[in-house]
Amino acid sequence: MPETSYDAAAAAEYRAAREIPREGLTAWRRAVADEARLTAGMTVLDVGAGTGGFAAAFHDWFQVGVLAVEPAAAMRALIPAGAGVRALDGRAESLPVPDACADAAWLGSVVHHLGDLDAAARELRRALRPGAPVLIRNTFPGRSGRDLRVRFFPETADSVAGYPTVERVEAAFGAAGFRRVALRSVPQESAPTLAAWADRLRRDSDTKLRALGDAAYARGIARIREAAAANPEERAISWMDLLVLR
Ligand SMILES: C[S@@+](CC[C@H](N)C(=O)[O-])C[C@H]1O[C@@H](n2cnc3c(N)ncnc32)[C@H](O)[C@@H]1O
Repeated sequence: MPETSYDAAAAAEYRAAREIPREGLTAWRRAVADEARLTAGMTVLDVGAGTGGFAAAFHDWFQVGVLAVEPAAAMRALIPAGAGVRALDGRAESLPVPDACADAAWLGSVVHHLGDLDAAARELRRALRPGAPVLIRNTFPGRSGRDLRVRFFPETADSVAGYPTVERVEAAFGAAGFRRVALRSVPQESAPTLAAWADRLRRDSDTKLRALGDAAYARGIARIREAAAANPEERAISWMDLLVLR
């Protein structure tokens, strides 16, 4: 997938529409705690950090220092850098960090944006301490049925079909010396209700929604509104995978 460009407006829109409210990430916090065993003072490399929602969450949840690497200046400008979070200009294929500097790496919705997955895996091998985990949060082909976007906009499965598969990611990281230790689906609460989620959606903040035609997008919004009317209490729960390699 070609790299997406973000200007200031797109970055602000990304933050408003795509950053998950912290209270919706409880299961993700627990899953990361189980898999990475992070302790205060450790260093986490957040690769493709975007507007830094997860960088800030990792710092707050685990009292770790976060190196948030992000190539798009407009996205990087919104990372809440300060005590505990450093925003760095760079990309996964050429990380601007020293060898063996990090105790874990986090790649949230990033692997399908990378120009060279194999180079990124080699860079992560260089940047991580031996035994440190790579935590990949992504939608993968064949496993996206419980992603809310795919549920209501079924055509988005066509975009997901072009993403790297679990096997492709495993092969790239395997060649760099990592092996898979876990693959689990983890829920997030994107909004308290489906209606609130529909209100928050911004087509331009999501490559999968952006790829839809106007009619397909309108049909998806209508499906959400219909489901919300039929079940006003339904929470907007979406599932993505956590793939862990060490
Ligand atoms: C969908 S956003 C995810 C942002 C953030 N990780 C999150 O979960 O909210 C994908 C991000 O990957 C960044 N990106 C694109 N190509 C990259 C590369 N080669 N290396 C690192 N990051 C990249 C984009 O600029 C964008 O900020």
